[in-house]
Amino acid sequence: MQATSPIGIFDSGIGGLTVFRSIAGQLPQYDYIYLGDNSRAPYGNRSFKTIHQYTWECVQWLFEQGCPLVILACNTASAKALRTIQQRDMPGRYNDKRVLGVIRPTAEVIGNYTKTGNIGVLGTKGTVQSESYAIEIAKFFPEVQVYQQACPLWVPLIENGEYDKPGADYYVKQYLDELLSRSADIDTLLLACTHYPLLQDKIKAHLPESIQVVAQGDIVAASLQDYLHRHPEINDQITRNGTRHFFTSSDDTADFDQHASMFFSAPVKSEYVSLK
Ligand code: DGL
Repeated sequence: MQATSPIGIFDSGIGGLTVFRSIAGQLPQYDYIYLGDNSRAPYGNRSFKTIHQYTWECVQWLFEQGCPLVILACNTASAKALRTIQQRDMPGRYNDKRVLGVIRPTAEVIGNYTKTGNIGVLGTKGTVQSESYAIEIAKFFPEVQVYQQACPLWVPLIENGEYDKPGADYYVKQYLDELLSRSADIDTLLLACTHYPLLQDKIKAHLPESIQVVAQGDIVAASLQDYLHRHPEINDQITRNGTRHFFTSSDDTADFDQHASMFFSAPVKSEYVSLK
């Protein structure tokens, strides 16, 4: 690999590709490295300690590859590990590097989507239990009601390639019914897990047309563009050759390549990385 200082994009698995696609589309000039920790996904049902440990290992690996900036394209890691990484792990060791998450940029704008003032937030167990969305959205839109729903079986379905199969409909409907039974006024549904856009067609099929579904990719990409504009000290460190490299901790790189190629509408050849 040529010597680059790319932007690192991290997710527990393939979900972060939904964010990476938007980022690379909006900011094509930069170099990027994507890391999916597929062998240890899903993170969503794991403890705080484990999610932090895995996320920090991945972030450090991306730092070692020369990334001055890492995006946690994972809500679970953003909810459970980001603050500890920013406030405890990095100071004194990585002062010239930055790690950003996806929750704050989403919370900053999501209130603008609702007319009824009622938002449904779909996420992993970890994201929902952390209450991060309820807390962050309340800071920017105190009048908005947030209804959270954990969907613990969706990421395993997606990571196992079942997201477009008929069996997935059962679990999509189950969690949506649970959420909608708690409020008839929800008009906006946030996919607060970067894997969930892969189920978007099925999710929409189970919803009345009055409910709009919002995915995070474009929101995070716009926020990153703004961040780079405001932070030349980071922006100037990132190289711009338009390269994209993909790494996965899964032995099955072919499976990862198949998903990534679909997302990027171009052949993707990932490399295996051992994180232990
Ligand atoms: N894509 C992730 C998220 O946004 C994580 C899913 C998981 O590993 O459980 O939360």
